[in-house]
Amino acid sequence: SMVKLWIKKGDVTVNACVVKDPSMTIDPNHDVIAFRDETITYVENFTVMMNKRAGVVSARKDTRHTTVFDDLSPAHRYDHLSIAGRLDKDTEGLIILSTDGDLIHQLTHPKKNVFKTYLVVCDRLIDSVQPLLEPMTLLDGKNQPYTPQMPIIVFHNKNTVELKIKEGKFHQVKRMFQAIGHEVVYLKRTAIHHVILDATLNPGQYRMLTEIELAQLRKK
Ligand code: URA
Repeated sequence: SMVKLWIKKGDVTVNACVVKDPSMTIDPNHDVIAFRDETITYVENFTVMMNKRAGVVSARKDTRHTTVFDDLSPAHRYDHLSIAGRLDKDTEGLIILSTDGDLIHQLTHPKKNVFKTYLVVCDRLIDSVQPLLEPMTLLDGKNQPYTPQMPIIVFHNKNTVELKIKEGKFHQVKRMFQAIGHEVVYLKRTAIHHVILDATLNPGQYRMLTEIELAQLRKK
């Protein structure tokens, strides 16, 4: 792992002494750990919200494109950090990354029925959102047909709709609008479950979730 390499390079100190043995046992509550002279605060799990920027892919590694992991500081690219629900390369907005496998499962398992909120801008005026509320058949990432659960329309004006969906399958929002004859020209995820994207985060920026937000994510 990266951490082992940093330790072997001498980038890590324990109580102000360089340690080069990655297997050394430490007491996170008493020992002072520093990385390149910056003190590290020990946390059980690391969970952040990122305002994903357009043009980066929701993966750890990609041979051709920049990833959301590239927008994390190297010290935050933990081995066990996973993405809760991917966004398309051209989609912006809320991505949650966590080392907490249980939280990732709660947010992504299809049976958990977690609402995701999207701001959708279409190519032209949407007269009525009613067709979005009718059962429709779409293809998922494996070209298997499915019928999305009925979305919740939060807001609709001209060519903009804010809606909540439950599944989040491959290109789901784009395909729902395609099914009613519209092309999505801008897509942004604004919320996952009860957690709303922090409006002060510029595209590509992230911050740790607060205790309140972590509790909101776990709320049934
Ligand atoms: N629906 C899409 O079509 N794209 C996304 O990135 C997310 C939901």
